[in-house]
Amino acid sequence: MSNEPRRPGRHFLQIPGPTPVPEQILAAMNRQVLDHRGPDFQKLGKRVLAGIKTLFKTQGHVIIYPSSGTGAWEAALSNTLSPGDRVLMVETGQFAVLWKQMADRLGLRAEVIQTDWRIGADAEEIEVHLKKDKARAIKAVCVVHNETSTGCRTRLDEVRRVLDATDHPALLMTDSISGLAAADLRHDEWRIDVTVAGSQKGLMMPPGLSFTAISDKAIAASKSAELKRSYFSWEDMLAFNGDGYFPYTPATSLLYGLDEAINLINSEGLENVFARHNRLAEATRTAVRAWGLEVNCRDAKYDSPAVTTVLMPEGHNADSFRKLALESFNMSLGTGLNKLAGKAFRIAHLGDTNELTVLGALTGVEMALEVAGVPHKKGGVQAAMSYIADSAKIPAAKAA
Ligand SMILES: Cc1ncc(COP(=O)(O)O)c(C=O)c1O
Repeated sequence: MSNEPRRPGRHFLQIPGPTPVPEQILAAMNRQVLDHRGPDFQKLGKRVLAGIKTLFKTQGHVIIYPSSGTGAWEAALSNTLSPGDRVLMVETGQFAVLWKQMADRLGLRAEVIQTDWRIGADAEEIEVHLKKDKARAIKAVCVVHNETSTGCRTRLDEVRRVLDATDHPALLMTDSISGLAAADLRHDEWRIDVTVAGSQKGLMMPPGLSFTAISDKAIAASKSAELKRSYFSWEDMLAFNGDGYFPYTPATSLLYGLDEAINLINSEGLENVFARHNRLAEATRTAVRAWGLEVNCRDAKYDSPAVTTVLMPEGHNADSFRKLALESFNMSLGTGLNKLAGKAFRIAHLGDTNELTVLGALTGVEMALEVAGVPHKKGGVQAAMSYIADSAKIPAAKAA
């Protein structure tokens, strides 16, 4: 029991993961555990292993690990690559930095294209780099789909196009940990070889599961890849998953939740989920601009549907501001990471979110700006309301 006084009403969890978990998912997980080698589990296993494919738009295999997204990163690299292999990465933000650090630790040779952390990965720069690789020595191109630290999304279709244009055989790997079920992702159509994701973001689940969609080409690469792996070996998973089972004890309660999350997303419709994220993201950016503050993503082409990173005016600390928003209005905003620490805060519009929750969050931000004495113009929430009301008129007009 805490001695803190009760805070009435609901906490506004506006960080870009973990995101709020819908009641239906909480209820689905609130069951007795079951025999993970028995027939009831087999039905559940088969259902979630098939259902998760729809979210990646793949007919291929999706592996589910009881791990956070970082585990799936490690699996992606260690199953497909060998010590000393060259990989091309783009430093779009803090998560790209961490994935590169992992590549270094695993003994890979990462070549990094730098950015100013205000755009996604630029396909043209990747093309220039690949063209120089006459010997075709680069084994994988690794890009973060939705860079959660900067609020920038990479256009994976464009990255695919430059791999094709340069006729480069490298595997295409992407981290869609905060992109899945928020930003369109077409694993098969864009011929992505490895896509990793996590449960605690667009999937609206608690943390604890990661997902890895893998192409036949990635599976073929895994046959000769020499990096060491054991727990994260795809081979063991694939051998068991065919029958709906797992090589070790699966996170059964989370899989009940996953079953429900897939149902919820499919009953809304995946394309509607993307449209909702885009609408709420645009409403958020509209508010930020009306306040006279700057959105970190500097090119609309890369705007993230999941999270908006807001730059703090000079002389004002973003973390003091977030602390004030939490204490005054019971709202958690995302912190600035790495070189954005203290300089930026993040407003998530990811997962189980709607117009009024986003407007509530924006209201909290606008009030906190005032309380903190951060210079801004009034009217951001009003501008977001007008944008949302206008978008609501479009379907209403169609129905008339
Ligand atoms: C884009 C991205 N990649 C990787 C990670 C790391 O994932 P996890 O914390 O689930 O291990 C995160 C977490 O926020 C993320 O947003």
